[in-house]
Amino acid sequence: MSKTILITGGAGFIGSHVIRLFVEKYPHYQIVNLDALTYAGNLENLKEVEDAPNYTFVKADILEEQALAHIFAAYGITDVIHLAAESHVDRSISDPLAFVKTNVMGTVNLLNAAKKAWMGALDQHLFYHVSTDEVYGSLHEGGFFVETTPYDPQSPYSASKAASDHFVRAYANTYHMKTVVSNCSNNYGPNHFPEKLIPLCIHNIKSNKPLPVYGKGENVRDWLYVKDHARAIDVVFHRGKPGETYNIGGFNEWKNIDIVRLLCKKMDEKLGREKGTSEKLITFVQDRAGHDLRYAIDASKIKKELGWEPSLQFDEGIDQTIDWYLENESWLEQVTSGAYQEYYQKHYDNR
Ligand code: NAD
Ligand code: TYD
Repeated sequence: MSKTILITGGAGFIGSHVIRLFVEKYPHYQIVNLDALTYAGNLENLKEVEDAPNYTFVKADILEEQALAHIFAAYGITDVIHLAAESHVDRSISDPLAFVKTNVMGTVNLLNAAKKAWMGALDQHLFYHVSTDEVYGSLHEGGFFVETTPYDPQSPYSASKAASDHFVRAYANTYHMKTVVSNCSNNYGPNHFPEKLIPLCIHNIKSNKPLPVYGKGENVRDWLYVKDHARAIDVVFHRGKPGETYNIGGFNEWKNIDIVRLLCKKMDEKLGREKGTSEKLITFVQDRAGHDLRYAIDASKIKKELGWEPSLQFDEGIDQTIDWYLENESWLEQVTSGAYQEYYQKHYDNR
């Protein structure tokens, strides 16, 4: 069946992988990418599909009510996959309101636009909200987040994502909108903006700059290759049960310090540096305020009910990621020029 899907945040890290997958896999769908092109959005991420006949880019902000109404009407949007968000915990600590605006108010604005446009036929359209495992809070040594784990967000970022998840479910309950939510663990892979741990370390190792590890580097994250997340979004969009939540993750937990050491080891080999060279760049810096200790997703529901599981082993995914950054120097240079330098100095100089 033909669809015209509005994908928000398609110029960002995960969104660009979702757009590429949908444009290439579903030539009979029209894909409309709505993105405000904040510092995190980059149309370079979409070079391969920019001329595809089933792809359109629209520069707009999800906070703009009139622009959304126009887009739903002009393109005849049948479904939404909503990824647009402010996504960086550190930025949420210094500017929480920006996260309330985009993640909470922007999501509600988008829900309203969809509700209005689909009035009278709400059961025929899907609003898919892409969220994070961080809404569940912080784990200690044992246990996993399951879909019924109570929400307990601990950072302004996760609080804003939790609020947006609640609004999506409230619209399903109150207005009978057909919605689905997925909560995914930390992603890594090509096109990841180098403010996040893995691309930041790859960039700094390459440039022989200090590798800032917060606290003792003991915090644990569960890492999933971004293309596997995009595949999961495809599966949930097409086969997810309306009203349900699906946790997505790789059963792949790492302490931050171990990831940083692995990157050092692999990059020494790839760059022909003497063993141990890059590890000398590791610098322990002041911890993040309210730093969540551990995230770990139990992704057995999506495997059992929808047949999705990660396709790549971490070792292979990290190799592909490093290789992509080494082969795409101009991308890295472009995104780290200008505003990035200012952010970097402000955030790290006094740690
Ligand atoms: P990102 O920061 O790389 O990209 C966000 C995109 O949204 C950018 O292209 C940006 O320009 C756009 N955007 C921001 N504010 C906007 C606005 N007001 N209107 C329109 N567009 C706007 O983020 P990401 O890492 O690709 O994350 C995408 C989604 O997935 C987010 O909702 C995030 O919460 C969720 N998520 C991310 C991860 C992760 O590890 N990165 C894990 C789980 C869930
Ligand atoms: P990040 O990539 O920002 O993702 P999130 O906070 O959403 O999990 O950070 C991943 C982990 O790495 C987190 O525990 C914080 C830590 N970290 C550092 O130690 N140094 C850094 O420079 C950054 C950006 C993160």
